[in-house]
Amino acid sequence: MIPDEVVEQVSQQADIVAIISEYVRLKKVGSVWRGPCPFHQGTNANFSVQPRGGYTCFVCGEKGSVFTFVQKRLGMSFVEAVKYVGAKSGIEVTEVDRKREGPDPREPMWELQATVAEFFQRTLWDEPAGAHAREYLASRAVSRATAERFGIGFAPREIGAMRAHLNGLGYDDERLLAAGLLVMREEREEPRPRFRDRLIFPILDQSGHTIGFGGRLLGPGEPKYLNSAESEIFAKGKTLYNLSFARNAIRREDRAIVVEGYFDVLRLVDAGVEHVVAPMGTALTEPQAELIGRYTKHVFLLYDSDGPGQKATFRAADALLAKGHEVRVVTLPEGEDPDTFTRERGREAVERLIEDAMDVFDRKVQLLQRAGWFSDLQHKRRALDRLLPTIRAASDPITRDLYLARAADAAGIAREVLLRELHAAPRRGTARTAAVTPVAAAGGPVRTASAPVPSGPYRSSVEQGNAEQTLIRVLLTQPVWQDWIFEAIGRLEAEEFPGDEAGGAEALDEDPHAALRDPVYRAIYQALQKHGADAAPEMVAEELDALAIHVYEDLRGEPDAVVDAKRSIEDAMRQLRARSLDARVRALKSLLSLAGEGEKDQINLSIKKLADEKRSLGAQHWGMVPNRK
Ligand code: GTP
Ligand code: MN
Repeated sequence: MIPDEVVEQVSQQADIVAIISEYVRLKKVGSVWRGPCPFHQGTNANFSVQPRGGYTCFVCGEKGSVFTFVQKRLGMSFVEAVKYVGAKSGIEVTEVDRKREGPDPREPMWELQATVAEFFQRTLWDEPAGAHAREYLASRAVSRATAERFGIGFAPREIGAMRAHLNGLGYDDERLLAAGLLVMREEREEPRPRFRDRLIFPILDQSGHTIGFGGRLLGPGEPKYLNSAESEIFAKGKTLYNLSFARNAIRREDRAIVVEGYFDVLRLVDAGVEHVVAPMGTALTEPQAELIGRYTKHVFLLYDSDGPGQKATFRAADALLAKGHEVRVVTLPEGEDPDTFTRERGREAVERLIEDAMDVFDRKVQLLQRAGWFSDLQHKRRALDRLLPTIRAASDPITRDLYLARAADAAGIAREVLLRELHAAPRRGTARTAAVTPVAAAGGPVRTASAPVPSGPYRSSVEQGNAEQTLIRVLLTQPVWQDWIFEAIGRLEAEEFPGDEAGGAEALDEDPHAALRDPVYRAIYQALQKHGADAAPEMVAEELDALAIHVYEDLRGEPDAVVDAKRSIEDAMRQLRARSLDARVRALKSLLSLAGEGEKDQINLSIKKLADEKRSLGAQHWGMVPNRK
């Protein structure tokens, strides 16, 4: 870091007019200097520089000090900006207590991304190819000023434009390929841009470096949104969209609003609600919760009112609670998302909704109560299984006590019983392992949180994980079996999870209700089920996160792994069935702690039946696999 006195000294000595003049044509008007704003690419002299102060743009509202100008314009960190200005002002700036000397090694990568962002932006506004995208923005009522504020651009369908432009600036193909801006499917193929015919949202890190893009298809097709690939500079799970712009507002308001999508952010900011951020298509992660925690401890979740939105809300809440946040849930009317609601009803309506936000735990209890989940034993058990993880997640002890009391009250269960449950090991399905937390993208594909990609083969944490692996291997190598496998798994699931309707509390139903318990294998399985076992690998990979892609590629790379498909399927199904029976027994046993005497007998009887069934499984053949070549 740089000592405050030095920063102060540099700021006193700096000739802000001279420094900004290198980038903006400034003319003296009275006591200030005016010119076209470099931030919204204005043409009129709306940008004003005060010789003894900062700069302001009267149109786009950008303002700041000589340091912020350099940071934003040159993509520097604060420290780098102070050094840069210092050098121009004849003051030697030395950092104290910092190991790293010299520029951040990621700087060239940020610079490249920023250059591409500019290309996309120019294509949007100045090229005939951008007309379609301009119409699209207009149709969604996004003004040019708002779009420019977010640096929105357009990636043309045409294959060569971006490459030619960047080559012309001295970026060779190799660098563009390494940065993931160009991709090459096959050795001899022409490189193609990753983003084509997409509206582009530049993604900045919290310091304002351009680190990647989100691109929305203008027409129909899949995937609707595409992000930059994970890289040294872009980690989706550790980044929040709009944080670099929102962080001051978040500090000022001492609260952050989290929404799901890019358009939600745009709309709220446009309406004057600035303290808003969004994850990028995955559930909010703990690193993201921590990131928000640098600016505030009060988070309002404003997600789509649909099923996936509600689910994502409660998942996000647990991540936030774990990081000590106070979490409130804003409830939108049916069928609305923040974008549509704010567009139709305006700022005041959305602010009223935000004021009505409810503590996340109270909201959960409310949903469960309305769905009648506190009535009978089985439901009560399930209701508590939904509440306990949230109580456990709360890292703040006062909050945890409060939640415990409320849950005991709602369920009509002694606080002590609940406390025992709280300290007991979490039940399967409600357990969350840190390494592989299943998360569903809002409306998007099911993904797994960014777990580290192992160097060796993937080891499932689920017992009998090899059964799942076997089934996927068969699907990949002998897709002719796919219908049979999908059906058999479907039957098994129907047996373990019969008529499990949630009656209005679907959003709280965390368990995947799936025979494949391992989240990575399950994600691959679901992708294969969605697109067909013989689908193109890129299509399947699009549904998966880095870890799952790694596992998928591994399995694909073993075309001869399955010798006898029929035997393999039979063995795997038997294993899964045994596991399913065990799970049902465990579920019944877990009722005992809440049950009265009469109920206990009933439960024990059922347990015995299942145990018998499992015993006979060893001998019996799962069978019924038809003979196929
Ligand atoms: P519009 O349909 O354009 O209004 O999008 P939205 O912003 O309302 O998106 P939606 O509610 O469908 O999804 C919320 C967010 O999830 C988006 O902003 C994206 O970040 C992400 N998302 C949605 N669909 C996909 C997808 O197919 N792939 C990926 N990677 N992310 C997606
Ligand atoms: Mn949406």
